[in-house]
Amino acid sequence: MDVEEAIRVRRSVRSYEGRGVPEEVLKKVLDAARMAPSAHNKQDWKFIVVRDEEKRKELCRAAGGQAQVRDAPVVVAGITTDPEDRLPSGVSSGIMDLSIAMDHMTLKAAEEGLGTCWIGAFDQESAKRALGVPKRCEIVALMPIGYPKEPLRKKEKNRKSLDEIVSYEGFA
Ligand SMILES: Cc1cc2nc3c(=O)[nH]c(=O)nc-3n(C[C@H](O)[C@H](O)[C@H](O)COP(=O)(O)O)c2cc1C
Repeated sequence: MDVEEAIRVRRSVRSYEGRGVPEEVLKKVLDAARMAPSAHNKQDWKFIVVRDEEKRKELCRAAGGQAQVRDAPVVVAGITTDPEDRLPSGVSSGIMDLSIAMDHMTLKAAEEGLGTCWIGAFDQESAKRALGVPKRCEIVALMPIGYPKEPLRKKEKNRKSLDEIVSYEGFA
């Protein structure tokens, strides 16, 4: 699968088959995150792999009961270890770096036939408690990963047109 195809077939998967994700396959997905660029190549990130059902249930509760967090065989929490760091632009480097790395994960997962779902709607403190994440860190996103009940395939995506989002030489 090339990058174009991975981009086209990736979608948010909220229903998973019961079977687990083999460690060697998960390692490829995690390695795609490791290869991501980061500001100054600081790599101020940690990824916690959660397979334990009780912990997934806890994370599910932290995510307001979103069932995919409990039902996926694996949930990866992406954490910035330096949430206060800002780029010269004022933008959070941690959020930017983790977002790039975790998007690499979603595309590599798609190549492996795995579904993923970004989870940004969760209670930070509850999720940190569930995983023993230190106060100084911040969980940027949770990412359930598993084999989708409905296999990934190219589908029309509900997206704005390029005309609506792109302008040339200045804001429009
Ligand atoms: C930063 C971020 C946070 C998100 N949080 C959630 C979430 O908490 N729960 C959920 O079901 N989907 C979540 N999503 C998935 C979006 O709803 C989804 O990506 C969007 O509707 C486009 O659909 P697609 O991923 O299938 O292309 C999130 C996506 C992003 C990028």
